[in-house]
Amino acid sequence: MSSCGRVNANCSDYAVIFDLDGVIVSTDDCHYRAWKRLADEECIPFDAEINNRLRGVSRMESLEIILEKSPRVYSDDQKQVLAERKNGYYRELLQSLSPSDVLPGALELITALKERGFRVAIGSSSRNCPIILERIGLKSVFDVVVDGNCISRSKPDPEVFMKAAEKLGIPPKRCVVIEDAEAGVEAAARAGMPVIAVGAAAGSPLAALSAQDLTTITADTIIRVLAGCPDSADTL
Ligand code: BG6
Ligand code: MG
Repeated sequence: MSSCGRVNANCSDYAVIFDLDGVIVSTDDCHYRAWKRLADEECIPFDAEINNRLRGVSRMESLEIILEKSPRVYSDDQKQVLAERKNGYYRELLQSLSPSDVLPGALELITALKERGFRVAIGSSSRNCPIILERIGLKSVFDVVVDGNCISRSKPDPEVFMKAAEKLGIPPKRCVVIEDAEAGVEAAARAGMPVIAVGAAAGSPLAALSAQDLTTITADTIIRVLAGCPDSADTL
């Protein structure tokens, strides 16, 4: 396609920054079950629609969203206790996490990208990121990991992705982000990075490309997104 830009032959000049929860690993249900348990104990209405708003946002911001429906007002100290309680429930559920929880297509895509020389990174809001990567056997796979422990502003702020690009030493426009959260898609767009939206975020108007999951995304897809022509059937 003539409108496409050019991508350098050397793919090590480019990076793919993966969100973790909902993109690499199926922890979404664990988050949901842990928040649901807390909400039920506190008699706060909580459903899948509210849960969808928690994707990509930090633990404390998630709690604030849940408390919008609470009949009771909590102090800051009580909120800290609630967030820790939820995290305890979540960590219990993470104990059974294993490499079989890596989402379809993730390993294949990461392997293909590394074979082509791309740099790969994680950009996640989760403070449990280190334990999750360890449990799913991907602790040493990524060149850079930036998670909830390294940032002061959660998605949709672009901080997590800007930090990952800085650590990689690669300009933002040469980093493709893969995200399943609307907040994450917005964060990547604000960072000036092309985004592939998957799962719950698929169809986002801010995304360069949408896909149901990672099974249809290849290293060539990433090259086409970087070149600005994600829908082209040609391999550049
Ligand atoms: C994100 C999840 O990856 O991490 C959010 O999409 C979650 O739902 C956030 O709230 C923070 O996670 P954690 O593990 O630090 O409680
Ligand atoms: Mg996610």
